[in-house]
This record gives sequence, C-alpha cells and structure tokens, in this order.
Amino acid sequence: MKISSHAVARMLGTWREGPGPAHQRLSDKLRLLILDGRLPLGAALPSERDLATGLGTSRTTVGASFRTLAEHGYLATRARTRATVRLPGGTGSERQAGREAETIDLSFAAPAAPVEILHAAFATALEQLPRHFERHGYDRYGTAELREAIAHWYQRRGLPTPADHILVTNGAQHALALLTRVLLSPRGRVLIDHPTYPHAITAFTQARARLLPVAVTSSGWDTDQLQEAAKTADLAYLIPDFHNPTGMCMPTSVRRRLRFACPTVVDETMADLALDVPSPEPLALHMPAAISIGSVSKSVWGGLRIGWIRALPSLLERVEQARPTTDLGTPVVEQLAAAALLNEHQTRRPEALRQLRAQRDALQHALGEHLPEVDALQPVGGMTLWATFPAPISSRLAAAAPDHGVTIAAGPRFGIGGAFERNIRLPYTLPASRLRQAVRRLARARQALAQGTGGTHTPAPLA
Ligand SMILES: Cc1ncc(COP(=O)(O)O)c(C=O)c1O
Repeated sequence: MKISSHAVARMLGTWREGPGPAHQRLSDKLRLLILDGRLPLGAALPSERDLATGLGTSRTTVGASFRTLAEHGYLATRARTRATVRLPGGTGSERQAGREAETIDLSFAAPAAPVEILHAAFATALEQLPRHFERHGYDRYGTAELREAIAHWYQRRGLPTPADHILVTNGAQHALALLTRVLLSPRGRVLIDHPTYPHAITAFTQARARLLPVAVTSSGWDTDQLQEAAKTADLAYLIPDFHNPTGMCMPTSVRRRLRFACPTVVDETMADLALDVPSPEPLALHMPAAISIGSVSKSVWGGLRIGWIRALPSLLERVEQARPTTDLGTPVVEQLAAAALLNEHQTRRPEALRQLRAQRDALQHALGEHLPEVDALQPVGGMTLWATFPAPISSRLAAAAPDHGVTIAAGPRFGIGGAFERNIRLPYTLPASRLRQAVRRLARARQALAQGTGGTHTPAPLA
C-alpha cells in the first residue's frame, strides 16, 4: 500500500511545533503515526523528495528523519525503492540467523505477540483513551469497556455474566494472589490438581497454606478423590480447561458431579486454546458458586498483563478492598486494547490454533524420533506437553540442558514433596523448526547424563 505525500502531510498536521531540530520532530511524529497504526505496517512512504515538497521542508530534513526511523527499526529502506513501515525487532531472516546459536527457552509456556493484531487493538485503544481523561484513572474494578467485554466472553461460552461480576486484574497470577489474600488464612488447606501450575503452588505456600494434592493422572481427574479431599479443604484450585502442565480437559461428566462446599477457584487461563475437542462448558455452569479467573496472556500475549476474576459482587468488593496494599488498578490503555481484542474474538483465532496444533504435532514427532524412551499423552488443548521418562532424571536433565543450548522446566516444580522426577513440561509455543532443534539438544543432554556428565545450572524462571 502506497501512501501519498499529501496523506502523510495531513496526518502529520503541525509537526514543526516544539523544541529540537526539525528532522527530530519529524521522525518523532512519524514514529507516533506508526505506533498508533495510522501508518500501517508494510505501507510504502512517499520518496524523500516528494515528502519534502509535500511538507514544504528540505530533503535533508526528511532524509535525516527517515534515517533515524530506519536505525530504530521503524522503516525498512533499500536503494531506489520507497521506505516501508515496520516495527523494531529485526527481519525474519536476521532473527533466524541470530537464533541458531542462542539458547532455546522451553521454560516459558507463552506465545509470541501477534504483532498486527496487537497493533490494531492498541490503535483502537488510543482512539478511545480520551474518554477516560476526565477521570483520575485509578479504577480498582477495571474499565467499564473491559468488564463488559469479559462478561460477553463468558456469555459466548454459555455462561450468563453481568459486568458487575467481573474485576479486572494485572494477569491471572495477580487474580490468584488477590483471591489467596482474601480467601485463605495461614494453615488453611488448599485442594490442588497434582501436578499443577507452579506459581499457584508458590502463592499458596507463601500464604502458609497446607496443600491437599489430588492426582491428575493419564486418565484424568478422579471425581471421588476430589470430593473426598474437598471435604477438608478451605479452598480448591482447579485448572479444568487445558490443564497446565498436561493439556488435559476435565470431562463434562466430572464437572457435573463436583459438589464442593469450600470456595473453588477455577483457572481458565487456557480456555480459548481448544485444539482437538470442542471448547468446554465453563465449570461455573455446573458449580454456580465457582470463582473463575482468566487472562489474555495465553490466547493473545502475556505482555498485556490483563486478567480478571469472575465472582459475586460481594466477593469482588472484598478483593477491591484488599487491592491497595499492592496495586491501585490496571493500566487503562492495556484494558482498552484487551477489550478490543475480546470484542473482536481475537482470543480464539482459528489460524493461531492451527499453528499451535502443528507445533504440538512437530514436538511429538521430534520426541518420537530423538527421545523414543519418552512417553507423552497428546494434549487436547493448551500449550504444553507433559513428558514422562522411564527413570527419575528430570532435575538433573534440567540442570544439564543449558549446556546443550536449551532450558526446560523440571517436573518437581509442578508438584509437592519431590513428586514428578520422571517428568518434564515441554511447551509448543515456538515454531516447529525450533522445537525440533530443541528436542535434538535435549536428546544430547540426555545422552550426556547417561554418560555421567551432568550440568550444574540453577532452574530457569518459568510461566
Ligand atoms: C494455569 C495458569 N494460570 C495462570 C497463569 C498466569 O497467567 P498471567 O500471565 O495472566 O498472569 C499461567 C501462566 O503460565 C497459567 O499457566
């Protein structure tokens, strides 16, 4: 798409105002137009000469501003062709060359940002932002726009939800931390899936809770064991929708039978990532008192830091009152962008799911080829695979892996009491070629362990 010098001049408006040299003011203004989406990615700008004429300035000024933008990654330039709009981060081939050598990080289960989708969402957010300028911007429940959008997300999933049953948080982890603060007392007992999401374990143990682990095995959840444990629990925390780390989905028959008397937090962070099964009905449909938490971190991008709690207004009021000791609300621009993403159904993109499925299949195939001893259930959703080795080598493998160019999360981090020494969690959020490379490196680390040459690295952070 070619953009004329008249169009750029119109968008730039009074670009000459302000301090500093003219070329700097021009490059600053053009950068803003790129960031807010008015100069779209891939658009071809007018030539330096045409733009200089259109703006009534010198070609030197335009040339200097284009060079600044190109140096900072906002323009791609080539001799005798128009400069095109891009975002910083390097071209695909530059990134590829750099990556061959770098360590592959399999400790994070989180996707890279869908750049253009995010860009469009932030452009919408910036347009809407002035509506909020008259207010102070500290809103502990979240903006009306995002609360509505989240309520509609539940309604689309078959769960009627008024907007006042939603409180916006800075990610699902923040939601969990707030609920832990409000619902748990020291020495309180928390029922957890076992294995489960490690940062949930940390949140509960730091609150000095005692954990009641209920096994999630290769055949899934055991309703009777869950019911039995819930009798003595003060809180339950479940990940029924594409469980982290196994990728399993709790069957409707189990959901229907659960009757817990204790408050139950249902983590639906992965709910939009159904790969092989229809999207599950929200657990709260069968357990109306359930407190649901969610996020756009896995379905769009973790860097947004937008999550939420769905609960009765009486509980949300307690959460809202507990909030000021650690935070006074969620950034407004990110909330508006998240609302745009939810309203446009960008948290469930068929193309993204197709890609995730292909990456999962590539990972499983590479495991079969290079680590045939590993047993792994096919995850039906989410973004992680739970691999089982015949021997308890997980922690030693995680320590050795960085010497071979890959980092992984060891199984014991997903459980308590040293369980899961035979397991590792492998995310499939990287491109298939990187996953194949990672598995080859892991196989080399495995071989090094077998030969008695292990590593000494400390565990990587994970998500
Ligand atoms: C099950 C589960 N809950 C919560 C979180 C935290 O999500 P957020 O990035 O929204 O804080 C994660 C992230 O890995 C997760 O896997």
